[in-house]
Amino acid sequence: MSDICPTVLPQEIACAEVNAPPCGIVVFGASGDLVRRKLLSSVFELLRRGLLNENFYLVGCSRSSFSDEQYRTDVGDCIRESLGDVPSDLLRRFTDKVYYIVGDYEQESFYKSIAAKISQLDGEHNVEGGRIFYLAVPPLLYGTIVEGLDKAGLSCPGKPGCERIRVVVEKPFGRDLKSADDLNQTIHRHFGERQIYRIDHYLGKETVQNILMFRFANTIFEPVWNRNFIDHVQITIAESVGVEHRGGYYDNAGALRDMFQNHMLGMLALVAMEPPPSFEADHVRDEKVKLLRCIRPLTSQGVNSDFVRGQYTAGRIDGQKVCGYRHEPKVDAVSTTETYVAARLFVDNWRWQDVPFYLRTGKRLARKDTEIAITFKKIPHSMFVSAGLPDLPANTLVMHIQPEEGISLSFQAKRPGSKVCIGTLRMKFSYAEVFGGEPPDAYQRLLLDCMLGDQTLFTRQDDVKISWSLLEPVLKMWEDKSSMPYEYRAGSESFLQADRLIESDGRKWRPLSEI
Ligand code: BG6
Repeated sequence: MSDICPTVLPQEIACAEVNAPPCGIVVFGASGDLVRRKLLSSVFELLRRGLLNENFYLVGCSRSSFSDEQYRTDVGDCIRESLGDVPSDLLRRFTDKVYYIVGDYEQESFYKSIAAKISQLDGEHNVEGGRIFYLAVPPLLYGTIVEGLDKAGLSCPGKPGCERIRVVVEKPFGRDLKSADDLNQTIHRHFGERQIYRIDHYLGKETVQNILMFRFANTIFEPVWNRNFIDHVQITIAESVGVEHRGGYYDNAGALRDMFQNHMLGMLALVAMEPPPSFEADHVRDEKVKLLRCIRPLTSQGVNSDFVRGQYTAGRIDGQKVCGYRHEPKVDAVSTTETYVAARLFVDNWRWQDVPFYLRTGKRLARKDTEIAITFKKIPHSMFVSAGLPDLPANTLVMHIQPEEGISLSFQAKRPGSKVCIGTLRMKFSYAEVFGGEPPDAYQRLLLDCMLGDQTLFTRQDDVKISWSLLEPVLKMWEDKSSMPYEYRAGSESFLQADRLIESDGRKWRPLSEI
């Protein structure tokens, strides 16, 4: 297949970006990995891009002991570690607005000190009532923290003006339908749904948001975006990393809970949903939920035929030896947790009836590759067969999410020379080539939206409920510790049973590829 270089046309750019209003952020789990690697640098980047309001403060809260000054130094170090060298005057401007409170999540006194500190900071930084409580802590603590905040008078659900007091909850949001329901109820006792921002960082990725622009800002794709023209859809999130330092969490979660229930189903919803009437949060989220409701319910027989799970064994990634999953730190030596899931799903509605959606995600695969590939139907009749040419391949449209962001479309065209000579060409657009540099990290988008009170890219409670209920039969069957995931060697592209899932339909997984 040959590539056609992209031509960058002079563009008409229509951008809508709004700067953050005044706001204070209180981060629980401040000494944890997520905050240190992602959050702090994302808030700093918002400042650097001129999107953060000058009337702003950030309070780190955790069990580790720091003074304000020590925490400021630590925050500076984290930002430099994530972003490299940054202007020191800008960094100072940021860290001057950073504070720290140490405490025990179980103690009322902790929330009282937070309440006292932020009421003082609200005045000093003039944040006009804008507050975000960011829970970057293990899910077990969500209930304790929201209750503590409420008792200290910091939540105010349902009262006018309270929408500017928000709570951000990281995934995993529950581990099954029941626990997600319980968690929703607990949080709802203290915060209203309009105040709750459930993060799925995939929805903050530029190229994932682009699915909506691509589909609904063009006329040429929507008419063919249905069962009449599309043969099947493949959604892949392949990772070359293993469980890293998160073995303890991961061994209790597995790929189905960690990636499938949220990121994979979220992307499926965006690819397949109906056009919303407007880009308003609830219009978009209504359509996502409607789509999830249309996914054909699974039966236990369906789980066996339409879901495959795997677990990696020792192998090589980029030439380096890596251990098998069961030898990872904090992982049970006889663990039956899956590190790979492949599935075939159907969406029972007029647009998609009988079009298979193949989804797969796994750790320690050959390469990092996240993409959504739409394979169109083959031409109904080829006039070139009589001229000696075989069956022609179908057109494929690929949305490359990472590591390189872009879109490509393959099609057939005549090659110069012989009278009848056809080849597959690929037209590709790469974000880096066209717009230069890396797109902003997903957390920047999500934090900014949260400050702005825009819930479009956050998961609503009904979405959480439907996705968990869809997966209940799978969770139930895989709970049985006597049945094991299939093994695959670290560094492989796929394995026999995962291949069979799609090959039994006469199709193939796309090779894991760079753009
Ligand atoms: C997280 C999962 O939500 O997403 C991780 O918990 C996974 O296990 C990560 O590695 C992948 O995110 P990204 O942005 O690197 O594709």
